[in-house]
Amino acid sequence: MKKSSTAYVCQECGYESPEWLGKCPECGMWNSLREFKIPASAKTSAGKQISSVSQKPRKLGEIGSHSVNRLSTGFSEMDGVLGGGIVAGSVILLAGDPGVGKSTLLLQIALNLSLSKVRSSLNSSVLYISGEESGEQIKLRTSRIYKNHKDIENVYILSATNTDLVQEAIEEYKPGLVIVDSIQTMESENAGGLSGSISQIRYCASLFIKIAKTQNIPIIIVGHVTKEGMVAGPMVLSHMVDTILFLEGEKSSSIRILRSFKNRFGPVDEVGIFSMEAGGIVQSNSIEQLFLTKNLPKNVTGSIISVAMEGSRAFLVEIQGLVVSSKIPIPRRVSSGIDYKRLELILAVLQKHCNIPLSGMDVFVNVAGGLKISDTAVDLGICLAIFSSFKNISLSTTVAVSEVGLLGELRPVQFLDRRIKEAKKLGFKNVISHNTYRTLSEVIRSLGKGGNYG
Ligand code: TYD
Ligand code: MG
Repeated sequence: MKKSSTAYVCQECGYESPEWLGKCPECGMWNSLREFKIPASAKTSAGKQISSVSQKPRKLGEIGSHSVNRLSTGFSEMDGVLGGGIVAGSVILLAGDPGVGKSTLLLQIALNLSLSKVRSSLNSSVLYISGEESGEQIKLRTSRIYKNHKDIENVYILSATNTDLVQEAIEEYKPGLVIVDSIQTMESENAGGLSGSISQIRYCASLFIKIAKTQNIPIIIVGHVTKEGMVAGPMVLSHMVDTILFLEGEKSSSIRILRSFKNRFGPVDEVGIFSMEAGGIVQSNSIEQLFLTKNLPKNVTGSIISVAMEGSRAFLVEIQGLVVSSKIPIPRRVSSGIDYKRLELILAVLQKHCNIPLSGMDVFVNVAGGLKISDTAVDLGICLAIFSSFKNISLSTTVAVSEVGLLGELRPVQFLDRRIKEAKKLGFKNVISHNTYRTLSEVIRSLGKGGNYG
């Protein structure tokens, strides 16, 4: 039996050293290393842990390829992101801003598992451990989501922060799924520091990972994100867990996007789209038109449609541009939903290659619906939204899909056919792409004259 040993862990970045150091060699912080006891069986990087059953090397050819058992969450959107459901014994980190809806989503998964909807031969009991809310608070939340409390069987709530208690409960109830909400609230006497400190988070997480791997119980761990967009503390867990999911969404919008950043058991570029409603989180059915403004007046200027891809899915998005003459020496450039640097680059291309005098203008660009887009296929859409506002030409029923290069050339984008198909499906006939024009200036000349959409 291995004994537990000691390591020194930086509270800022999670750097680990066998001896105490005054300054962290990784992040340069002074006096940030704290003593941290490593539980005997969590000594290897927990991600690499295999079950504690002693294992001898086996010939690859002799290892059976049985299909993995997956537990459905009851949300096809979430199952898709996970690669088909939750894999037994896997550890999933669900990260997101406070208030984005992590607890709501997980409670609903627990309810889905408990209700006949997805009941299967797999063990569908759920142990929901909350370090943030009391049982009564969770009950109150449940009553918002689901009215018939009596139907809910097999969902056990444990309001606790002490990992020893949690471990006992898991061993006693042997649930089919454990939810830990959140890792920042869990604490153990065996690790130094306050709850939420890196050493506590690492210790508690490695304990949960050990439980998941040895007892083959999937565990979903919630991690809050700090202002900088890092998962506070749990960033150090990223190599330990099997899957990292991010739940994203703006406070002002009800749309929530679930993304996977790492997945040992599925794709990493899939997204799930949800909407936060008064009665809980619901998955969206008409995703293609979710980001379009409804009942937009026909002759509005400064609006154009583009098609962005997330994973294998195409979405129509409305790009809005507003150009007004500036009253300040350095005009404003404000972008929401697209990278600011991308906007600056596009403005430079418009000015240089299309002779559009924007240097004295304030320019605002917004992706309607609170979506953040990194797909360069919306470049042309951004250019034309700005052009539309500048020239007061309505392009609101035009679809533009193309990357724009520094020379003002239209560049091909991936999956153009799929994007065009999606646009046509929703009734948009005018699609501008690198197939119809070679350069941005050709497009602009043509639209200025009254259009040739191709
Ligand atoms: P929550 O799941 O507590 O967020 P997190 O766990 O990520 O911190 O979500 C809290 C927000 O969700 C809160 O602003 C209220 C809202 N909400 C709804 O809109 N509908 C609902 O049915 C519920 C339960 C919450
Ligand atoms: Mg919560």
